[in-house]
Amino acid sequence: MNGHPYRAKTFDLSGLRGISDRTLEMHFKLYEGYVDQTNMLTERIAGFLEDGRVDREEMPAYSELTRRLGFEYNGMVLHEYYFGNLRRGGGGEPGRGSGFARAAEASFGTVERWRLDFASVGTMRGVGWAICFQDPQNGRLSNHWVTLHEVGNVAGFRPVLVMDVWEHAFLLDYEPAERPRYIEAFFANVDWRAVEGRLVAEAQAEARAAAHA
Ligand SMILES: [Fe+2]
Repeated sequence: MNGHPYRAKTFDLSGLRGISDRTLEMHFKLYEGYVDQTNMLTERIAGFLEDGRVDREEMPAYSELTRRLGFEYNGMVLHEYYFGNLRRGGGGEPGRGSGFARAAEASFGTVERWRLDFASVGTMRGVGWAICFQDPQNGRLSNHWVTLHEVGNVAGFRPVLVMDVWEHAFLLDYEPAERPRYIEAFFANVDWRAVEGRLVAEAQAEARAAAHA
């Protein structure tokens, strides 16, 4: 077996507003499942390589396991971004003049318009995620819908704010049709400092320059 298996991270998120501890405990367990599956798939795929070839009979099983890698890897990583951009006592607005606020203004005109777009993406029908990405080349922000965990991620872009809108993220606290209330709760707990820390440093400067151009 090459490489080191992933270990589930722990997040201290008890006492959030509008997202119960019970929801989070269940959600952490789901996340740990993605870590386990990622490790298991990696190990089983490595098993196919041990004899130096992937022969025809092995190809269907090898292919199926490899196709699942994107689902499990993104399921693991996106949950880490999601838990990592929440905190007890979070919420409010991104700081005025912060790198995030400047990038949002440069990309959407105002932070409010960025937020309207992000929250609207979150209410799209279907199972997936709302993700605000930053283009590391020019600092621009764009909000994307990601189906399941792996369809719609932008290669090489940096996820700066990640919101899980699978129903398991809120079903113990809200009705299925109450997703907008969950999205409000999400915003009430955002750790804007963590978001700020994900921005690309040199791109911040470019976004700042663009905002003042
Ligand atoms: Fe989730």
